[in-house]
Amino acid sequence: QNLPGKTAFITGGASGIGLGIAKALLGAGMNVVIADIRDDHLAAAEAELAGGDRVLPLKLDVTDRAAFAAAADAAEARFGKLHILCNNAGVAVVGPTELATFADWDWVMGVNVGGTINGIVTVLPRILAHGEGGHIVNTASMSALVPVGGTTIYSCGKAAVTSMMECMRPELEARGVICSAFCPGAVQSNIAEAGKTRPADLAETGYAEADKRRASGGNFMHLYQTKEEVGERVLQGILNDELYILTHSEFLDGVRERGEATSAAVQTHLPENPDYKQTFAMLFRNPAI
Ligand code: NAI
Repeated sequence: QNLPGKTAFITGGASGIGLGIAKALLGAGMNVVIADIRDDHLAAAEAELAGGDRVLPLKLDVTDRAAFAAAADAAEARFGKLHILCNNAGVAVVGPTELATFADWDWVMGVNVGGTINGIVTVLPRILAHGEGGHIVNTASMSALVPVGGTTIYSCGKAAVTSMMECMRPELEARGVICSAFCPGAVQSNIAEAGKTRPADLAETGYAEADKRRASGGNFMHLYQTKEEVGERVLQGILNDELYILTHSEFLDGVRERGEATSAAVQTHLPENPDYKQTFAMLFRNPAI
């Protein structure tokens, strides 16, 4: 990737991880569009980035498809072409699975998975159309790879956006678009405030009590990585064309255990059918299909 002068569109780009990514990409000479649902975050981020004409703050709810297309139009009107898409906007609920309401599921999946789908459908054709190549980074989480109790809704959404990058990577690589799944551990951010942007029609939650208990359980923010650290990690992952952009070594055992457990579960006692293997490879590894 030759980044200077090119343009990145970062959802949830006005706070936490998205802002860290914006800082790193701006530092690498890119124009950055920070698209975010919160006006206060947009104003503070614009001041913090201090990037002048190379920063375009845009108000956007990623679940609104028409607004997403309008935001992409506005970004192209300002910078010409979009090259990097960071589907990063995200929200979370945490607690026992049986307490989740439909609204808890719909809100988190709507933003974290639906918003990412909207980003792909809106921006990928624009990147392919200009033919200069590009990169898509979905912000997932270590919790997509390492099971964490009480995070069912959040983690299965993160697994979905990880899988999205794994599937799209071989399909798009040859056409110059690289796909990466960014899976960080805990990062200093404002995600604990996510409820402030929860829509009224999805307000009914089963986690009010669990949230209160967690809020009184202590603040561990000082143990987390900073937005600058993870922003630089994403930049490095983009420059190196990494499929998995991972952080925190504390999760290495968990990542390894999952790989070992899934490998061990394959039915290796059954004979392998070479025809099936070849056909499968032909059908699903061929990007033209
Ligand atoms: P954050 O709350 O600081 O930043 C997220 C930004 O997204 C906020 O500015 C928020 O206003 C915006 N946003 C929320 N809903 C939106 C919507 N519907 N449309 C547009 N913008 C919206 O939180 P953080 O932690 O930086 O989160 C960024 C991403 O990183 C999320 O996808 C989160 O799930 C993921 N993540 C966070 C981790 C952490 O420890 N903070 C760890 C692993 C992943």
